[in-house]
Formats: sequence, structure tokens, C-alpha cells
Amino acid sequence: MVAQLIDGKGIGQTIKAEIAEEVKELVKQGCKPGLAVILVGDDPASATYVKNKEKATLAAGMTSRLIRLSAETTQEELLSHVRQLNEDNDIHGILVQLPLPKHLDEDEVIRTITPDKDVDGFHPINVGKMVIGQPTYLSCTPYGIIELLERTNVEIAGRHAVVIGRSNIVGKPMGQLLLQRDATVTYCHSRTPNLAEMTKQADILVVAVGRAKMIDASYVKEGAVVIDVGMNRDEQGKLCGDVDFDSVKEVSSAITPVPGGVGPMTITMLLKNTVHSAKRACG
Ligand code: GUN
Repeated sequence: MVAQLIDGKGIGQTIKAEIAEEVKELVKQGCKPGLAVILVGDDPASATYVKNKEKATLAAGMTSRLIRLSAETTQEELLSHVRQLNEDNDIHGILVQLPLPKHLDEDEVIRTITPDKDVDGFHPINVGKMVIGQPTYLSCTPYGIIELLERTNVEIAGRHAVVIGRSNIVGKPMGQLLLQRDATVTYCHSRTPNLAEMTKQADILVVAVGRAKMIDASYVKEGAVVIDVGMNRDEQGKLCGDVDFDSVKEVSSAITPVPGGVGPMTITMLLKNTVHSAKRACG
């Protein structure tokens, strides 16, 4: 079997075009959606992610406001920026790029963002709503993965989904969203014994381990759908995922490439959440 490629770049562009249309309508009504991003310190990877978010926000016709703070910023200074944005009527989404420098308290920063503008879906109130199935902002990467599965007609209900990774940003919400769509969900992580035994039972395998090409064909059942959340560099410095694409594409029925799979969907869903917030604020 040679896998169908799940084209996150193309699907992301389709959704971005839908978003741009919605933005045009909102602008006509005098309500331009605005996203504020706070970047603390000078981690190069974070700077690249933030730049990409800014580009996509502007391309969708929205307002992008970038607040760059030095690595020495105090907790109180950072919270004060967040509070100002909470009160700013031109801003509908607030994103504080993670990870923050070690001296800052990430949890307190997330709790200070008003849940109404928490377009990352990280605030405990929004996480709680997500878990009990109430409408709320969904964490962008898992939300994007659900869109990828739905738009490529992958059946979720009744299937066994295995999620490797248990982060608050990806693994945990991913499992919940699959569960809500009636999958049987298994979480695996670094302390799971016999990992391959578990992953070989997956109809849908979501891999978010952060280790280059760790998951090869020996972990994958024939015909499984494989979603690769990883973003790493291989020995040649080339971008690669957590999945060994060349071997897994021979056994899976569908697979996301890296780059061009999950990555473009994350930013797309951030824009979608921000437009949703603007609609609520202006409606
Ligand atoms: N760092 C890596 N991914 C993310 C994300 O989705 N949101 C934020 N705020 N920071 C991140």
C-alpha cells in the first residue's frame, strides 16, 4: 500500500481563503479582526513562528500587533501588557508565544488572558469547556488535525485512535477531540512500555513526541492513518517530522508530510479562532 498524502498546505490555503472572505464581510461592518502576539526574549525558533503568524494574519486582511519584550522582562510587566490587551477593543485574540524565559510563570500569564480572547485555547476555563464538549476556542494544532481528518473524509467514529504525547498544547486536547468524535482513544508517552505493541493497534495514529523520525513502519498497522506533529531537523539539517515518512508511507493508507502537513493548519486555526472572537465581539 502506498499512502495518500494529506495536503495540509492545500487544505490550509482553502480555509485561509474562507477566512479572508469572512474578514472582508467583518471589515465592511466596521469590525476588523485583530490578533496581538507577545514574544518575550530572542529564541530564534519562536521568532520564526511569530513572524509566520504575523504574515498569515496580515495576508488574511486582519490587524496584527506584535509586542516584543526583552528576555529580562518581569512577570508584572508581562502581565500588565496582557491586561492592556484584554481591555483593547481593536484586539480580539491574544497569544503569548511559549515557551517563556524560565523566570516567568507561564500558568499565571495564561490565566491572565481573558478567556474571551484566548485564541490558543490554553486558559483553564477554555480547556474545561473543551473537555465537557461546550463550544470554545480549541487548541490550534489538535483543532487543525481534526479539520485535516474531516476534510479528507477520514472516519473517526468507532476507530481506535492512538496519541503519542501528552502535552497540554497537543497530546491531551487531541485525545479529547477524538473522543468527542466517538473514537476509542489511547494515550501513549515516554513511560509507555512496548510502545510499538500499542501503536500497531491504531487506525489513526497521532505522533507528537519531538524526536526526529522515531516512528517507522514497525510501529504502524497496515492501512492506518498517520498524523505527524513533529518539526525537527535530520542529520543533513533538513526539516523532518517524528515519523520516518519514507518507511511509513509504504504501510499507511494516508499520511501527513513534514513540511506541508500539520504545520500550516496550526496557524490557519489561529486565524479562524481570532475571526470567531471578532464576530462575537462585534455581533
Ligand atoms: N509555542 C509552540 N506552539 C505554540 C502555540 O500553539 N501557541 C503558543 N502560544 N506558543 C506556542
